Amino acid sequence: MSATVRVELGQRAYDVLVGQGLLARAGELISPLLTGRKRVVIVTDRTPWALHGGVLTASLEKSAIAYDVIEIEPGEASKSFISFQRVTEALLALTIERGDLVIAFGGGVTGDLAGFAAGVTKRGIDFVQIPTTLLAQVDSSVGGKTAINASAGKNLVGLFWQPRLVLADLDVLATLPRRDMAVGWAEVVKIGLIQDRDFFDWCAANGAAAISGDTSILSHAVKAAVQAKANIVAQDEREGGVRALLNLGHTFGHAFEACVGFDESVLRHGEAVACGMAMAHRFSVAQGLCDKEDARQVEDALDAAGLPAFPSDLPGGPWTSAALFEAMSHDKKNEDGNLTLIITRGIGEAFVQKRVDAAAVRAFLDEDLNR
Ligand SMILES: NC(=O)c1ccc[n+]([C@@H]2O[C@H](COP(=O)([O-])OP(=O)(O)OC[C@H]3O[C@@H](n4cnc5c(N)ncnc54)[C@H](O)[C@@H]3O)[C@@H](O)[C@H]2O)c1
Ligand SMILES: [Zn+2]
Repeated sequence: MSATVRVELGQRAYDVLVGQGLLARAGELISPLLTGRKRVVIVTDRTPWALHGGVLTASLEKSAIAYDVIEIEPGEASKSFISFQRVTEALLALTIERGDLVIAFGGGVTGDLAGFAAGVTKRGIDFVQIPTTLLAQVDSSVGGKTAINASAGKNLVGLFWQPRLVLADLDVLATLPRRDMAVGWAEVVKIGLIQDRDFFDWCAANGAAAISGDTSILSHAVKAAVQAKANIVAQDEREGGVRALLNLGHTFGHAFEACVGFDESVLRHGEAVACGMAMAHRFSVAQGLCDKEDARQVEDALDAAGLPAFPSDLPGGPWTSAALFEAMSHDKKNEDGNLTLIITRGIGEAFVQKRVDAAAVRAFLDEDLNR
């Protein structure tokens, strides 16, 4: 049983399949994309590979698809120039050809690194995403953003390189640790907060079940989040406009991540984003834009899923408003030294605000850190 979401991008359009049992059908589903010899190279994180790689390789063998494997170490450190070099050199050593495919099999780290390596090797080899974390299924595998990290910051070296196909198999989430389920859930809730109050209400009621791995809840959540992201990406592939809304909670969130040196063993991206989304609502309340009750509902929904809604609940503190403000002023979305923030008129009504008053942000941070 699976559902198909089409990402409508003209010549670069592709399907995202969401459901159970997809990994066991990967060979049959990928086969039509292989134009020449039937050959793929799998780039994978050691952890999902050890847990689920056997199902994938059995399925490729059944469809007579030859494969090689490049393993990467789990963790954000793999989005480095060194791993990028290792993966691209390995692809070349395996004499990968334009008619072959790269398969990214893992979480967001694997997808970002493998997608970037595929996108630049021999000026572009097609790739397929088989995301194995909730975050990768609902967010990073769809939309074609690929990148590695640089000394100057995260995701600063990369390209838009759309996959040919995405297979989001819910079964692989069964082995995902609870903390990883929660960080993926933050990006699901985000979709409701941006543009869909009914979906937010559903998330608020079902967050705890989702984190515990309830497959029917997860199935609805992943399909809805992927459909929403696909619609946004189809309107604005390269983030010139509406796609920026997907950064809700990310400017506040990135500031906390920067303060801990983006150390995911301390603070996870989704935790920072969860708190950041609650802060975007509280800031909007302080600006007289959003009802206080909406901000409270956001806090409750995050709390129900075990996600932090207040800076004091975030791992990695204590925080200072000066350090957070300094980090916010380096955000990629800022223009001419002015802050850009995604704020809201209420749940489901987020919008991009340019030239945000810096003094108001500082005052808000001072207050929110003491909440
Ligand atoms: N490209 C985009 O649009 C986009 C969007 C959001 C986030 N990202 C990037 O995604 C990355 C975070 O993604 P992530 O949270 O998936 O991190 P991740 O890839 O590091 O995976 C998290 C952990 O889960 C483990 N894991 C993966 N699949 C598993 C499974 N099925 N069972 C058990 N363990 C499993 C991994 O080994 C790792 O330890 C960040 O680098 C972020 O910048 C990219
Ligand atoms: Zn995010």
